[in-house]
Amino acid sequence: MQWKRRLAIGVLSLGILVGCATTGEQMATKEKSLYDRLGGKPAITAVVDDFVARVAADRRINRFFANTDIPSFKAKLIDQICEASGGPCKYTGKDMKTAHAGMGITDADFNALVEDLVATLDKFKVPEKEKSELLAVLGPMKKDIVTR
Ligand code: HEM
Repeated sequence: MQWKRRLAIGVLSLGILVGCATTGEQMATKEKSLYDRLGGKPAITAVVDDFVARVAADRRINRFFANTDIPSFKAKLIDQICEASGGPCKYTGKDMKTAHAGMGITDADFNALVEDLVATLDKFKVPEKEKSELLAVLGPMKKDIVTR
């Protein structure tokens, strides 16, 4: 009889342990990546399309892009944002310092570009949280882009 009680207690304890572990696992479930929350590659592609069109029409900064191969620039930007937001892409373009070297980009130029991006994110109704997370990923690049 004794062994049956021990077995019952053993099984019960195991059950409680497994139950706790499962709850712990659920509690530790990670938030989706920014990439997923933004809507993945299709959403990022739509954002970059709209954003680059705004930049191209923005007389404050479009002179910088006069000789730019726009489709190639867009593809690089998509990969960069995809990778930086935790997506499955690999950015293979130049690092930000090299890409913008010698352009003499000012604070005002940088802010104009960010303004265009925010207008796009607002148009697509990207929530405040995801908007600020994306801007927080791009913000630190400023020190390598603004040289004047
Ligand atoms: C966080 C802000 C920015 C990001 C993430 C960014 C990203 C990029 C990327 C990925 C490239 C492509 C690099 C390559 O060709 O390998 C690029 C190139 C370039 N960027 Fe930016 N950029 C930013 C800000 C700016 C600003 C403020 C300007 C000017 C107002 C600017 C002007 C350019 C130009 C003219 C090119 C060269 C395109 C070409 O090859 O003709 N960028 N940028």
